Amino acid sequence: MKISVIGAGNVGATCAQRVAEKELANEVVLVDIIDGVPQGKGLDMWESAPVEGFDTRIIGTNGYEETKDSSIVIITAGLARKPGMSRDDLRDKNAGIVKGISEQVARFSPDAKIILVTNPLDVMTYVAFKTTGFDSKNVFGQAGVLDTARYRTFLSMELGISVNDIQAMVLGGHGDDMVPLLSYTTVSGIPITQLVPQDRLDAIVDRTRKGGGEIVKFLKTGSAFYAPSAAAVEMAEAVVRDKKRLLPCSAWLSGEFGIENTYVGVPVILGKDGVEKIVEIELTDAEKEMLHASANSVKKNISQLDI
Ligand code: APR
Repeated sequence: MKISVIGAGNVGATCAQRVAEKELANEVVLVDIIDGVPQGKGLDMWESAPVEGFDTRIIGTNGYEETKDSSIVIITAGLARKPGMSRDDLRDKNAGIVKGISEQVARFSPDAKIILVTNPLDVMTYVAFKTTGFDSKNVFGQAGVLDTARYRTFLSMELGISVNDIQAMVLGGHGDDMVPLLSYTTVSGIPITQLVPQDRLDAIVDRTRKGGGEIVKFLKTGSAFYAPSAAAVEMAEAVVRDKKRLLPCSAWLSGEFGIENTYVGVPVILGKDGVEKIVEIELTDAEKEMLHASANSVKKNISQLDI
């Protein structure tokens, strides 16, 4: 089992580390265009193996030969946001980067599952899908797991209750118009509306929508990477261990939820065959409207792509 991570920056290197520490693969291949960075970070990580007690090998490289026959490729390469930028501002530069990488993935690992992390997420997932020509169930994007993790963290802070007991889901595109589902947010089965007053819930939803921007404002020179990498690796683990997790992921829709020909965040079952099922849950009219608006904004971005 080989997992390749493309982009050895903040998100990519942390993904590689998490994959190795969880021993999700025998080999992790870390690829970047900067000479020395994937080699140095990979070796440094590998040297932590005796202390952390994992047997995963970590290979850093600037080429794709070493990625040959990867089972999973996590794409994190590309520009990250700086203060004042939206994820969409990264679109054209990152589309070129993701297209080039996808060509290499299709060439060297035609049977891989691809997990996109590069932003703007839903649009980049489409670029990889189009470029590789892979079945849509093998190309999906990380966004909902991260947005949901942020939402659950904020609810846990508000309530002083373990994150493990907070169940929630955030759908829609990975942008400020994402769709946190209040109707499916519970604390051990108790509807969230019984525990948190509406004005506080509204504030938490707003903070979730702007969660990425909050980190960018703190960091100033880049964007979040601990939570994004944890989320991407949770998806990889669902595939590697065939866990049949029900997770919100950016998936290609062909009529589900009344939406077609776009990637957007919806509940899916993730297992060894990638997106094994899109789970069409019932939504309130307001949630449906938000999901459609979010999908339309991804579609508009896709239509403006020059690839
Ligand atoms: N091939 C391989 N690596 C590349 C390529 C390419 N064509 N182009 C850029 N890279 C590498 C850069 O050299 C850099 O090491 O991608 C890495 C990006 O790392 P960071 O700048 O640290 O960005 P990071 O925080 O990891 O975010 C990467 O993930 O969450 C998203 O919005 C974020 O789009 C951004 C991406």
